[in-house]
Amino acid sequence: MVCLGNICRSPMADGLMRKKVAENNLDIVVDSAGTSGFHVGEAPDNRMRETAKGRNTPIDDLRARQFSVDDFDNFDIIYVMDSSNLKNILSLSRDENDRQKVKLILNESHPGKDLEVPDPYYGGERGFHEVYDMLDEATDVILEKLINGKR
Ligand code: 4NP
Repeated sequence: MVCLGNICRSPMADGLMRKKVAENNLDIVVDSAGTSGFHVGEAPDNRMRETAKGRNTPIDDLRARQFSVDDFDNFDIIYVMDSSNLKNILSLSRDENDRQKVKLILNESHPGKDLEVPDPYYGGERGFHEVYDMLDEATDVILEKLINGKR
């Protein structure tokens, strides 16, 4: 799960997916990273953590890191939150195999629409709940595909 800072959107996607994977006893590694190094080592943004806690998906233990080219080798699917993340990650790709791993996460819940998870960082509290809802819906679809072997 990849966003810009790895303190709002991608840790929320990471926390939701980890929880669903654990609840379903799946043997799948979930992680997140930012395209930038601005917040490396930091816990998720307080507002995202409060939203997450209030909705029973705490993400307090996660720490930001920056995406690295090794992630193309270590992961089978790389979900990005918006088109800027997509561009940044594709610019690091080495070959077609890398590029095929990168997907806009909302295309899971809204196929072919190329919708983006909006950056909630400079907005109000409501934005964090909207991000949570979008990612909850998308990770439900991903989980379903994992269970059915379509991923
Ligand atoms: P994120 O949100 O990409 O969802 O983690 C942001 C966090 C920090 C900044 C931008 C977006 N920032 O510019 O510091």
